[in-house]
Amino acid sequence: MPYQLIYSSVSSTPMQLEELEDILEQAHVNNASEDITGALVYVDGFFLQILEGEQAAVEQLMATISRDLRHEMVTVLQSGDIRSRAFADWRMAYVSATPDQVAQWVGLAASTALPQVWDDVRRDRTKVAQVAAGIVALLAGGQASAPLPA
Ligand SMILES: Cc1cc2nc3c(=O)[nH]c(=O)nc-3n(C[C@H](O)[C@H](O)[C@H](O)COP(=O)(O)O)c2cc1C
Repeated sequence: MPYQLIYSSVSSTPMQLEELEDILEQAHVNNASEDITGALVYVDGFFLQILEGEQAAVEQLMATISRDLRHEMVTVLQSGDIRSRAFADWRMAYVSATPDQVAQWVGLAASTALPQVWDDVRRDRTKVAQVAAGIVALLAGGQASAPLPA
């Protein structure tokens, strides 16, 4: 049974596209060899990442990622076995969402400031599933951008 982990973090410095591309490039190479799939969202200094795969592989990758100095305040929001992968087709989908979209995923007014949205998600873990569903919906709608060739 696959295992899924969702965490959030805050970038140490505002991310340039090139830096995001570096992360995604590493992810594509390493995740293919570890059979990890998932999605990475970056919105205004906040990361949210979903990792899926064998539990040991996911936990090992999470340990590596949490030591990465490019981000801080790494907080695991949810982890556990899942019936099937939500991002089976994505080594690491890069999802570019707007702050408004993220707020709406969790049922807050579009005008809610992003730090407040993130606080809310951290406090109320049922909202984590809503964020994950929002990401899946964006991907299904073709709104993910892949800065790297597949
Ligand atoms: C927000 C964020 C997400 C990351 N996601 C992944 C990932 O999905 N897979 C991965 O291998 N590395 C990821 N990394 C990079 C790892 O922390 C680490 O730098 C990388 O795995 C080292 O790869 P290397 O040993 O090939 O240099 C991520 C880093 C950040 C900051």
